[in-house]
Amino acid sequence: MSNAHSRRTRAAQLSLMLTMISVAATHAAAQVATKLPTGAIRWDASEEAARGALPSMSFANPTHRERREPTTKAGPVKPVFSTDGQGRSVVAISVEGGTSLYGTGENAGSLLRNGRTVEAWNTDAYGYREETKSLYQSHPWVLAVRADGSAFGVLADTTWRCEISLVDGITFAADGPAFPVIVMEGKTPQDVMMQLAAHIGTIELPPLWAIGYHQCRYSYYPEARVMEVAEGFRAHSIPCDVIWFDIDYMHGYRVFTFDSSHFPEPKRTNDELHDLGFRTIWMIDPGVKAESGYSVFDSGSAGEHWVNKADGSVYTGEVWPGQCVFPDYTRPETRVWWAGLYTSFMATGIDGVWNDMNEPAIFNVPSKTMPEDNQHRGGGDLSAGPHARYHNVYGMLMAMATKDGIAAANPEKRPFVLTRANYIGGHRYAATWTGDNAAEWYDLENSIPMALNLGLSGQPFCGPDIGGFIGNGDGQLFARWMGIGSLLPFSRGHTGKGNRDKEPWAFDANVERSCRMALERRYRLIPYLYSLFEESSRTGMPVARPTFFADPADPALRSEDDSFLLGDDLLVVAKTTPLGDRMPVLPRGEWRSLNLHDGATDPDLPDLYLRPGAILPVGPIEQYVDERPLDPLTLYVSLDPSGKARGTLYEDAGDGYGYRSGEFLRTTYQATRTGSAVAVEIASTFGKLARPERSIVVRVMLDDGREAVAISKDGQTISVDLATAKLPGQ
Ligand code: NOJ
Repeated sequence: MSNAHSRRTRAAQLSLMLTMISVAATHAAAQVATKLPTGAIRWDASEEAARGALPSMSFANPTHRERREPTTKAGPVKPVFSTDGQGRSVVAISVEGGTSLYGTGENAGSLLRNGRTVEAWNTDAYGYREETKSLYQSHPWVLAVRADGSAFGVLADTTWRCEISLVDGITFAADGPAFPVIVMEGKTPQDVMMQLAAHIGTIELPPLWAIGYHQCRYSYYPEARVMEVAEGFRAHSIPCDVIWFDIDYMHGYRVFTFDSSHFPEPKRTNDELHDLGFRTIWMIDPGVKAESGYSVFDSGSAGEHWVNKADGSVYTGEVWPGQCVFPDYTRPETRVWWAGLYTSFMATGIDGVWNDMNEPAIFNVPSKTMPEDNQHRGGGDLSAGPHARYHNVYGMLMAMATKDGIAAANPEKRPFVLTRANYIGGHRYAATWTGDNAAEWYDLENSIPMALNLGLSGQPFCGPDIGGFIGNGDGQLFARWMGIGSLLPFSRGHTGKGNRDKEPWAFDANVERSCRMALERRYRLIPYLYSLFEESSRTGMPVARPTFFADPADPALRSEDDSFLLGDDLLVVAKTTPLGDRMPVLPRGEWRSLNLHDGATDPDLPDLYLRPGAILPVGPIEQYVDERPLDPLTLYVSLDPSGKARGTLYEDAGDGYGYRSGEFLRTTYQATRTGSAVAVEIASTFGKLARPERSIVVRVMLDDGREAVAISKDGQTISVDLATAKLPGQ
């Protein structure tokens, strides 16, 4: 690390020491610990600070943070409150040696965050690098894993600009009034993640199509080009579910309009794409062109929906369409108005919405955003306040209103929103991507740890721009990126204006082959991925998990950037350097190499391993998720040393809300070896959905790569004879 970095580190250490000294002198006696009904401990600088705290915007139910009971048992984590020379409220938490720190949301750089300082302040961070202190989202949250594998998490419940320093323990320093911190203790990091979800909520189960592959660029137009790309996927037999429409579809970048020469009949465009098995997602930004006669501007002005300047007049700032006004999403009536704009928009057959530039990003100003003394008027639980207080939740409130709008427009369908800016808890409304990365190896490397730390901060539905947004890159980088990106929860290729074409077939035949294999693999894994999304929607467990989750007490796994787990059972080991020469540390035990292509391999794709003791449900290759029923269902069985394995498959209609009234089927399969015979049967079934009549293929994996295979009907006990094992593809 550079000298500049170590100088910063020393300066930060010194300031922390001074902080701790002043703390001891001024506040230690006054701070209060109370217990929340979940068992988490809420700490406040004083009883007065506790009573005056601003309402929580991270909690799924803000009132839950206020149900405090006195406690004398606060646990080992003791935050210390103070204020610093800049008038910031400071909370410091010391950690034992050997503690590994994670979370802090969306940040470039490695998974392990010890030694880092970032600032929660949503920023349009085009081309970000490791030293970029603020990206698009704010997650004032740290997950700490002690040497023995036990863990705790700390949520600094403030929306104000908040520096998070992990240089010496954990320090939060935020503008604005004193804020509560919520401390969650767990036997494991997984426990802590579930506790976090008990407070900030989980994702809603997404529609099945949203976990397919998405194809985007800035921008596909006109209509003929969109159709060419969509037909290209089908002609090249490369799976894809969604085509995206970036800002150029609009009329002069006016939101909720369509360019009549490029997209004369958007309904027809959507219908034609639907006929090919695609869904469509169209972009909506917050900036509304300030232009009389433009219906969105006129109706917003009539409803006084805009953010005001400190002097009470309407604020304008420049974005794509020129001078814009910005909805004040803190106002419930503004959110209702905004949601209503989606009714006619969605009626053109749009399936999902992409909210971009909602930090909010403003051009040609040094701060890249609106003035901090702009005024939000609030309403409901939210009092009026300056932009400084609401900046970090502006994107989240926009996403909330967007989700409400598209859910109301299509009440039978599950909404899908992608947002660039967000705040901790905002995963309840929208998925996310990691913004404007570059087509460089450094950014490919970042893809895994960034997605993992977002997952460890409550946002499981995330992924990078596959192929890189800025610049071209080459075919090998693209193939590697598709290999990794196709295994992250949100999987979308995207690139910026002026760059070369980056559809999977746009490089050469080898890259095309790698991309096809990568995406076929994702589609074979959809039954497992969907089961993980469903688990996440109930428990808050991330879909992509750090490798150390396999063994939180193993120190060797704590800083693993090049591998990750999908769920508990599937280990992905990627090559993120051009030579692919970095050797990841694997969890202990006989994880078995998994090949989903009958033995065919590609050196650019990550290696897959199945946990001993796991059964992995896999489907056939499809070109889009609802192309055909899940038949046959394949179960890969990796027995543990005692000859047992288990795995769970969740199924439902893939869209709509029938699952909420029991219209689903959750099946746990188990395998037991006796001598050279393995019996595979259903251990438990939940849900009202009838078991489909389908074939089942059981593949019991042996240590030497051979598999013993049996084919039967789902629902029956299947016996596999290990003596019949042979190498896949033979
Ligand atoms: C910025 C976004 O980060 C990028 O993904 C998008 O293509 C451009 N805005 C244009 O809308």
